[in-house]
Order: sequence, then C-alpha cells, then structure tokens
Amino acid sequence: MKTFFAGLTIASLAVAGVATAQDAPFAREIKARQGIMVYRAMQLGVLGGMAKGEVEYNAEAAQKAADNLVTAVSIDASMLWPKGSDNSANPASTALAAMWEDGSGIGDKAKALNDAAAAMQAAAGTGLDGLKTAMGPVGEACGACHKAFRVPTN
Ligand code: HEC
Repeated sequence: MKTFFAGLTIASLAVAGVATAQDAPFAREIKARQGIMVYRAMQLGVLGGMAKGEVEYNAEAAQKAADNLVTAVSIDASMLWPKGSDNSANPASTALAAMWEDGSGIGDKAKALNDAAAAMQAAAGTGLDGLKTAMGPVGEACGACHKAFRVPTN
C-alpha cells in the first residue's frame, strides 16, 4: 500500500510539473534561477554556521563553500532573467518588475555580491576571524538586492 501511494505521489508531481512548464510564463527560467539562489544560500549556510560558532571552523570546508559561492555568482544567468518574468506575470517568482527598469541598479547590486564573494574566497580558508570579517559584506549584498527587488516574504 505504501508503495502504491508513493508511486501515485511521484506520478502526480510529474504531471503537475509538465502542466506548470507549459502554462505558466517562464516557469523553467524561474525554477532555474531560484535553484541557483538556493545553492548560494546553501554555501552561505556553511560559512554562516562557522561564523556564528554553530559549526566548528574547518578551513577546508570553509574554502570549499567560498569557492562554490564564487562559482555560483559567476555563472552567466542572463538567459534566466527575461523581462516579463516577474511576480506579476507568474506568482511562482518573487522577483519585482522594478528589477528590469532602466537605472534600477540591479547590475551594481550583482557586482557588490561578486566583490564580496571574491573577498570571502580570499579569506575563508585563512582562519575564523577572516571568515567572520568577510561574512558581513556578503550577507549585506544578498539582503540589499532582495530588499529592493523581491516581494517581501513576511
Ligand atoms: C542582484 C540581486 C540579488 C542578489 C545579489 C542575490 N539575490 Fe537572491 N534573489 C534575487 C531575486 C530577484 C530573487 C527572486 C527570484 C524569483 O523568484 O524569480 C531571489 C531569490 C532568492 C532565494 C529564494 C529562491 C526560491 O526558491 O524562491 C534565495 C534562497 C536567495 N535569493 C538567496 C540569495 C543569497 C544567499 C544571496 C547572496 C549570496 C542572494 N540571494 C543574492 C536577487 C538577488
């Protein structure tokens, strides 16, 4: 019985996935960019856990997370952000249309994260103090862009 229900759930999910991809505008682009964001958050989670003392500092793990973060912010995701793929077009997205307006400053906000992630990459493996110092600017860069260009989530 258990197996039957498990199979049913997977089948329903697959059908729902197909319907979404066909019906909702830019569903694949939105899914892909959200996946990249979640991946960034996972790397930041490793670094943040060490910065807060929840996880013991480990130079190798910290360096790996910082390297991964740099990779994730360096990826060319331009094709994942077509104009018109904001929250008003598809509620699966929390991106605000303001992002795409001329002079929105989105590029500067993205660059601020690239710079902060590069500084983290240089510092993360050198010791806990360096990691902690680099943490602030990374968190601020994520937060500043979300504050400006995401539907408030709470
Ligand atoms: C230049 C702007 C910008 C920067 C910088 C940025 N984000 Fe985002 N982030 C967004 C936007 C816009 C969305 C909404 C995407 C959507 O739903 O279409 C988002 C969504 C997210 C989400 C939700 C994904 C989901 O499943 O809905 C997470 C998690 C996230 N970002 C983490 C991060 C982390 C961690 C950083 C920093 C390392 C970061 N972001 C930096 C713009 C940014």
